[in-house]
Amino acid sequence: MALTRLACILVLLSTHCYFTVLAVLLKTTNNAPWVNEFEAIELSCLIESISTAKPRIEWKKIKDGGPSYVYYDKKITGDLEDRARIREPATLEILNATRSDSASYRCEVAAPNDAKTVDEILITLVVRVKPVVPKCTVPKSVPVGKAAELRCVEEEGFPKSQYQWFRNKEEIPRDPKTSPKFYNSSYMLNAETGILKFNAVIKDDTGEYFCRAKNDAGHSECRPQKMEVYDINIVGIVLGVLVVVVVLLCISVGICCAYKRGYFASQTQTGNNYKAKGDGVDYVRTEDEGDFRHKSSFVI
Ligand SMILES: *[C@@H]1O[C@H](CO)[C@@H](O)[C@H](O)[C@H]1NC(C)=O
Ligand SMILES: *[C@@H]1O[C@H](CO)[C@@H](O)[C@H](O)[C@H]1NC(C)=O
Repeated sequence: MALTRLACILVLLSTHCYFTVLAVLLKTTNNAPWVNEFEAIELSCLIESISTAKPRIEWKKIKDGGPSYVYYDKKITGDLEDRARIREPATLEILNATRSDSASYRCEVAAPNDAKTVDEILITLVVRVKPVVPKCTVPKSVPVGKAAELRCVEEEGFPKSQYQWFRNKEEIPRDPKTSPKFYNSSYMLNAETGILKFNAVIKDDTGEYFCRAKNDAGHSECRPQKMEVYDINIVGIVLGVLVVVVVLLCISVGICCAYKRGYFASQTQTGNNYKAKGDGVDYVRTEDEGDFRHKSSFVI
């Protein structure tokens, strides 16, 4: 009696074991892979154990909330059609990744003859995008002691670009005090925003500036642009102003003289006494009154 009971227990145990073995079980070599745009990447989905001969394999892409089919009914569908294939047993290989492929992907394997009939695995893919040529703004000329702001923007890169600035092909250090060449410059360099801000430029800040946008996928640079720092020469300005004042004075004096001469000239012409014949009245124009004055004189 005890023997049969033991046998029963053994049978139960073994069937239990048998059923545990009969479970579909997936694994991956990498659940967070990344790839540079236009390169190939595989999303590995390996079947660790299975007893169903022909399991059903599906891949779904999960982006912006909704899942969509990538592999269904033994065919690649949707956006990845012609750009991907399945490698035994269930690995999805993307041949030419694009930035829109950044998403989560779910490998689902259904094995109806197993005790545990389905398993799935989630893989998050990041497609890195190389930065394009950044847009750089460099002021052409700045007077000594004034502030200046140099800007660099790049928006295609993924992950987001970081920025470096160069002066005459030499990288500008984050902290000017760490380099003898930049020691006397006063600037703040922000690698996240790409802004290089001088509080007060010095003569030595003159140079050819360019910026580099970089991320894990690569980097890109803008063309060098010249920033010139010029002296504000106080003596020069005062002299300049003086010259202008003198010139203005000369001109106004000149105009004045010319006007006066012209005025006299017109008076000699019109200021003559003339007789209105017959009426015995002289009309005289004089400088003082500038008008016709009635001058009584009788011609007998
Ligand atoms: C990948 O796709 C891009 C654009 O879709 C294309 O320009 C490029 O030639 C492709 N590269 C390969 C290796 O197929
Ligand atoms: C920085 O300024 C100091 C004092 O004005 C000067 O002696 C030194 O040569 C300058 N350094 C550079 C690199 O121009």
